[in-house]
Amino acid sequence: MNASRVESRLPVLRRFVARVVFVVCAGLLLSETPRAKLSAAERAPSAADARADAPQSPTASGLSLLLTQAYLPPDFDQQVFEDLWTTWEEPARSRAEQAALPERRRMTMERYGLTPHPDDPSKSMQYVVDPSSGAWTMSCLACHQGQVEGRAIPGLPNSNYALETLTEEVRLVKVKQRKPFGHMDMGSLFLPLGTTNGTTNAVMFGVALMRHRDPDLSIVQRPPRFDLVHHDMDAPAWWHYKKRRSLYADGFAAKGHRILMQFLLVKENGPEKFHAWEDEFRDIERWIESLEAPRWPYAVNMQLAGKGRLIFQQHCADCHGTYHAAGSDDGAAKETYPDRIVDIAEVGTDRVRLDSLTAKERGDLSKSWFGHLGEDAASMKDRESPAGYVAPPLDGVWATAPYLHNGSVPTLWHLLHPAERPAVWKRTPTGYDQARVGLEVAEMEKMPTGPGQEKLSSAERRRHFDTSKPGKSAKGHDFPDVLDEEEKTAVLEYLKTL
Ligand code: HEC
Ligand code: HEC
Repeated sequence: MNASRVESRLPVLRRFVARVVFVVCAGLLLSETPRAKLSAAERAPSAADARADAPQSPTASGLSLLLTQAYLPPDFDQQVFEDLWTTWEEPARSRAEQAALPERRRMTMERYGLTPHPDDPSKSMQYVVDPSSGAWTMSCLACHQGQVEGRAIPGLPNSNYALETLTEEVRLVKVKQRKPFGHMDMGSLFLPLGTTNGTTNAVMFGVALMRHRDPDLSIVQRPPRFDLVHHDMDAPAWWHYKKRRSLYADGFAAKGHRILMQFLLVKENGPEKFHAWEDEFRDIERWIESLEAPRWPYAVNMQLAGKGRLIFQQHCADCHGTYHAAGSDDGAAKETYPDRIVDIAEVGTDRVRLDSLTAKERGDLSKSWFGHLGEDAASMKDRESPAGYVAPPLDGVWATAPYLHNGSVPTLWHLLHPAERPAVWKRTPTGYDQARVGLEVAEMEKMPTGPGQEKLSSAERRRHFDTSKPGKSAKGHDFPDVLDEEEKTAVLEYLKTL
């Protein structure tokens, strides 16, 4: 067991005890009432059950599947959503109370990092809402549909998603409305969901869920694990999928439509559901592969960017590949992408993610149904024990802030200035920093306290990225340090054009 494992275990145990106490208390509260009756929303078969035997439209695009198909049990209903504001701290609660309904819904979406659905702003793009029962079900887009300055961009990760805060507040409303807890409400008892908004403990969700499956995905009961190395990850942009040969920060998994279904491993989904949904995930994969990086929507100094391109080719392209930028004269040149794994000692970024998976865990995933029982990874060497992190493609990098696999660096300017990266930062809800290229942030030396020196509420703490926490270091990737200030300015201008 390595040092980071020991370090990250103690708070986890403490958190676990606190959560058990919470749920036992909530259970007692609920048991005062003639309870255990399921609400209509939770009793109704999920939309997915109903559609499993329905004929599938061959033209249904991947995106419309993601927006309309509930592949998981529901998380909460419309009534819970409408009452979430009642759990907020002041002054947010009074402001919500006085607001008209559309404005209150907007405030609710903003608090949890949700994007209003273009067809119906009372719903969000990140949850599938069942039209008859009103049940809200988390979809892939919860983590994989983001915005820049409020404009939704397909395939952009959701850097605002406040999953832990949302789950906590949903639980409080369910207690008030005397509704039973769902799988996320219970699951978050065992697993922290994300300690900073915009990042999630998604990799450990996968490990925890795989524990209860055989390679053919049949369900087996095993006691939960308490030795997981919890850590938060920033999801990658989906438009890189077509360039990547392998997936994930350490590149251990082979591409394929089945591996995309990993997130659906709840106990309600037996192997037969995975078989039934395979074709839909072929469509979803096709849609992900068709995504293009968004273009920088502001002005660019093309002459400066041209200088930056030459510097990039000399110092960065060996790892990140080459690009033909819009408006440049190299349009005919072929793009390259080496898909290179860089040794952890060389890249020097936070290593918790790399150490959090064992060779067995990586291997078990490849050798399961998800990897066609090992076939998909047959040509991949050393991928069960990768030496470090993949140097990702940089197409559309202007939009994908925050940077590095753990989302610890708020702008490209900070990425190019390793010594200037903030210890703690807090973003504005949707502000964009055109000069530094990335999130508009306030920078701090340490986690602030409230006006009376008290600790901030947990919802407010999660709005801050604290690089002193395990798994959250913003150090490393010092490669730009060989450049002088003028060269860095030119590279920054060039990065806008990718
Ligand atoms: C709770 C947040 C969350 C949800 C929900 C989620 N993902 Fe992800 N996804 C992530 C994170 C975080 C990563 C990065 C993991 C890593 O690199 O180790 C990721 C990685 C990926 C990748 C790999 C991309 C790459 O370039 O390496 C794909 C593809 C993907 N997810 C597809 C999906 C699909 C399809 C769904 C729905 C079935 C889904 N995800 C649901 C958080 C999520
Ligand atoms: C030796 C290989 C290597 C070199 C050289 C290199 N990088 Fe990287 N770069 C990486 C790796 C590996 C990562 C991922 C690190 C992580 O996420 O922890 C990365 C991450 C990045 C990211 C963040 C991407 C994201 O989406 O989070 C940017 C931007 C970037 N590099 C730009 C550059 C620039 C500009 C240069 C040249 C000055 C450069 N890199 C040189 C290997 C390299």
